[in-house]
Amino acid sequence: MSDKPLLRIGLAGLGTVGATVAQQILAGAIDGVELGCVSAREPNKPRGFDISGLPFVADPLDMVADETIDVIVELIGGQDGPAYELVKASLQAGKPVVTANKALLAAHAAELSVLSSGQGGVPIALAYEAAVAGGIPVIKALREGLAGNQIGRLSGILNGTCNYILTRMEEAKLSFEDALDEAQAKGFAEADPTLDISGVDAAQKLSLLSALAFGLAPDYTKMPVAGIQAIAPQDIFFASQFDCVIRLVGVSERHQGAVYQRVTPMLVRRSNNLAQVRQELNAVMVRATPLGDLFLQGPGAGGGATASAVLADIADLALGFGRPLFTGPVSHMQTPLSQKAPEWEYYLRAGLADKPGSMAKATQILAENGVSIEEVIQRSSSDGGGFLPVVFITHEVDESSLNNALAALQQQDVCQGVLCLPIFAD
Ligand code: HSE
Repeated sequence: MSDKPLLRIGLAGLGTVGATVAQQILAGAIDGVELGCVSAREPNKPRGFDISGLPFVADPLDMVADETIDVIVELIGGQDGPAYELVKASLQAGKPVVTANKALLAAHAAELSVLSSGQGGVPIALAYEAAVAGGIPVIKALREGLAGNQIGRLSGILNGTCNYILTRMEEAKLSFEDALDEAQAKGFAEADPTLDISGVDAAQKLSLLSALAFGLAPDYTKMPVAGIQAIAPQDIFFASQFDCVIRLVGVSERHQGAVYQRVTPMLVRRSNNLAQVRQELNAVMVRATPLGDLFLQGPGAGGGATASAVLADIADLALGFGRPLFTGPVSHMQTPLSQKAPEWEYYLRAGLADKPGSMAKATQILAENGVSIEEVIQRSSSDGGGFLPVVFITHEVDESSLNNALAALQQQDVCQGVLCLPIFAD
């Protein structure tokens, strides 16, 4: 270990991730890196390790002004408020930042991309490996390992909480609520778990990956996003009948000269790598030229996984490697966004009235709208209200035809509770 630290860290936020980062640095995990000062909302909270020897800073903004601090590590969390103020002030002062905060980056990408682009051609590092897919080094993979490739499609399981819930509903036959309770108890969920289960957390992450992979200006509010709240145990059962599982997938792909992106629960064939991703694991699949297909899987949520990525960014900075948020300001990103989905196959589940003609009516509506059926299952057990669950697997179809068919089905008295999920194209 060298005598003089190369880098002194100001660490803001001592939650699960921050405490793990602090412990690792104090244990000398990264040569030449020292913890200069820390700040936390609850300084005296028991953390299982001794921080009494560390300078404690009440206002994290004071770390920016402290000239003995080389890098700010922001682990406060939250899209706005103190985390935003700290990151902004640090970049304005020319001080590098490491953060795990995808909500903040996704919401303020335009402004932060300008600040981290710096002035006079000198960028200020804004490192965020921990913000996407936890411990999977996907930011590094896209920027370094895949530099020189053209990416055709990027897809992934980007939310550990949702993946945990879907896996537990599938393997342990848990209800959605019980599986969510477990995920929260294990520390995977956001402070507000609706960000997880609504798909917003995954959309924020996908928007950052799409910016790196395709040069698409990040704006997750323009992306179709569906969460997993509507997935019922019967869907998990039906999916299994088609040798599929259900996963919350983020997809971003080139389509008709633009890039289409979406977060939605999808049926994934068991033979696909994404179907093997269980519990809180995350995964990213990239289809690139000339590389071919790349699949990365690893812990995507939880203190250890996130701390691992934060430490990797700190280690890079200690070696003198640091990059701005993107290659330039978001306003310079020219890639057009496609609002039109590629033609996908779909899983369509509906309750049909248990009386003559219901099935005929449903298939007639699908046919009239150009939706071709590949397979169908009808269960004999009624929901008690005289409706039988029916599942159609469609051939590939364009989204507008499908939406017309869904709208027409929903208007029928013989049809209720329609759920439609895309099927992941291998
Ligand atoms: N709540 C997130 C998840 C973890 O469940 O994936 C950090 O992004």
